[in-house]
Amino acid sequence: MMKKNRLVLVSCFLYIAALQCLSCTGKKEAQKADTSKQAEQKTEIAEVEMKPLYELAAPHGFMMGGAIGYEQINNEKHKNMLKGDFNSVTFTNELKAYSLLDWGVRQKNGMPALNFNKADQMMDFAQEAGLKVRGHVLVWDAYMTEWFFYEDYKNKTFASKDVMLKRLQNYIEQVITHFETKYPGVIYAWDVVNEAVGDGGDFKADDKSHVRTTRGGTKNLFYETIGHDYVKYAFKYAYDCIKKNGYDITLFYNDYNTFQVGKRTAICNLIDEINAKDKINPDGSKLCQGIGMQCYVGGYGTQSGCMNPNDIRLIKEAIEVYAKKDLQVQITEMAVRNYQKDNYSIVTHAEFYGKLAKMIKDINSTCDGKFTCWAIWGLLDNPGLPESDYSYKMNGPYCGLYTWDYKKKDAYKKVNEALAN
Ligand code: GLA
Repeated sequence: MMKKNRLVLVSCFLYIAALQCLSCTGKKEAQKADTSKQAEQKTEIAEVEMKPLYELAAPHGFMMGGAIGYEQINNEKHKNMLKGDFNSVTFTNELKAYSLLDWGVRQKNGMPALNFNKADQMMDFAQEAGLKVRGHVLVWDAYMTEWFFYEDYKNKTFASKDVMLKRLQNYIEQVITHFETKYPGVIYAWDVVNEAVGDGGDFKADDKSHVRTTRGGTKNLFYETIGHDYVKYAFKYAYDCIKKNGYDITLFYNDYNTFQVGKRTAICNLIDEINAKDKINPDGSKLCQGIGMQCYVGGYGTQSGCMNPNDIRLIKEAIEVYAKKDLQVQITEMAVRNYQKDNYSIVTHAEFYGKLAKMIKDINSTCDGKFTCWAIWGLLDNPGLPESDYSYKMNGPYCGLYTWDYKKKDAYKKVNEALAN
């Protein structure tokens, strides 16, 4: 009997203990659920509380720039992202000469006519969205239509230097005045010349500005027809057009690897040449007023060399060097390359972006307010990109501040946090 009672007692105890344990696991589960809910709410709140990037950048003296291509002109998510976080925008291809030159159509004066159809749709969007536009780009030897250089636009005999200078001037004036007439004040900066400085083996040995005669083995036809001074002429024509019409536009020279010391020196030499008083620039006017640093950062097509903290130091140094020459400086096409999606790479990418943002936030204190825009080209991850795609190498499929479907990544949050604090 005693034994039986003891048995009942023990089983009762075990039963109660089991019940308690169950209820305590339940509580724990509930608590877990509760904290994760709170955390969720917290992240949601944090996202709501995050201010737009452009608002955070403004007190530090610079605009935040994004990019859009014609293929995204009806993409509401893309447009909302731009409106939400940016106040400057660059069109990826639509203002380039190969997009505007209208083959076969001539003006009365024999100069090539331009087709502004797609570009105007992009400008409509920017104007309505209240975004200022970085005009990109007036003169670029790459992707350039070859017929522009032919004497009669058809047969492969190149036009003379004089004819080419007239064409260049006419083209530059047409483009600048078209947009200022139709969208006054929307374009605040023009990249006048892109990537004129070569990398080695593609410029004349005695040229301290390293102006490229070729690109990847193909002739630079501006150099071929006009000569080394095509860069200076382009700036002179853009400058005269702006001055004559009283437009408020800053003129930039834009290039890649601008933070590498050798290229930086060649670019400084080129700007000295452009702004020097001579027969092209008899008043010694400051024809070039800014440097556009494209800033694709990291290994080209490979993970090695990506997210190297030394690049942040080099970018800072370069901004300061250009600013000391009394030039505005903008980062114009940034992509922080990352080719891998493993946790380590994604975390390192976010942290790199945070450090970069911190450096940029403070840069105007050491460069006298000359840094005026941080524009990002590699805004989105693009994990579906085949390795053979040009953009795969240029940007890296995991370069984004946002995921492919426009969710803010940790990289975005790190940038936001750095700009806010
Ligand atoms: C260069 C040009 C850009 C763009 C990229 C490639 O950097 O300046 O306009 O074409 O190449 O994405």
